[in-house]
Amino acid sequence: MQYIIDSADTKAIKRCVEFFPVAGVTTNPTIISREHSSDFKGLISEIRSIIGPDRMLHIQTTSDIAEDIVAEAVELKKIAGGDFYIKVPVSAEGLKAIQVLKGMGIKVTATAIFTQQQAMLAALAGADYVAPYINRLDNIVSDGVHVVEEIVQLFQKHDIPTKVLAASFKNVEQVHKVAMVGCPAVTINPELFDQLIYHPLTLYAVDAFTADWEMVYGDKKVIDLLK
Ligand code: G3P
Repeated sequence: MQYIIDSADTKAIKRCVEFFPVAGVTTNPTIISREHSSDFKGLISEIRSIIGPDRMLHIQTTSDIAEDIVAEAVELKKIAGGDFYIKVPVSAEGLKAIQVLKGMGIKVTATAIFTQQQAMLAALAGADYVAPYINRLDNIVSDGVHVVEEIVQLFQKHDIPTKVLAASFKNVEQVHKVAMVGCPAVTINPELFDQLIYHPLTLYAVDAFTADWEMVYGDKKVIDLLK
């Protein structure tokens, strides 16, 4: 399973890469705009230099005409370097662009997916990943996890190599449930990485271990007793 950082905040990305087993970074126009950067190219390059060439970097087009999407992808790939994916929202123009991009050898994540059939057509067009939006589905009294489950099943049944990259999470339960239905990748905000490992009983257990140890060995650490 792949855990990806859904952010363009370079400080937060640096911290996540240092502490968590992350497979890459995804952005979208909203996420980029939150940084208020006057140097978009510089921001992309900085993210790449933090994550290195081997982790994935997914950056979204802002065009809605196939030819323009392709042109943006070509330029973004030059700046992003490394393992680059262009994110393309599903639409008729988007599907046309995905097919052209695949012919050019540029990797694609089809995004803004809300239905199983959007995912299927994006996959058949050649998308490497499809990104369904879990929390936004839950917010309209739909069931994001169920949509992911059925996309995973569709790809398995029809022998489609496209991977599901679930996006738009607000809590640990949503992440866990998509993992349980076989979703191979999730993109989550930096705060959610910390929530995934938080449990008060873990903190309590560690405090108790420390107290018991210090009663006998004081401030000596394990390494001090091995010398
Ligand atoms: O990239 C898609 C994802 O980030 C959307 O998340 O939280 O805006 O629904 P959210």
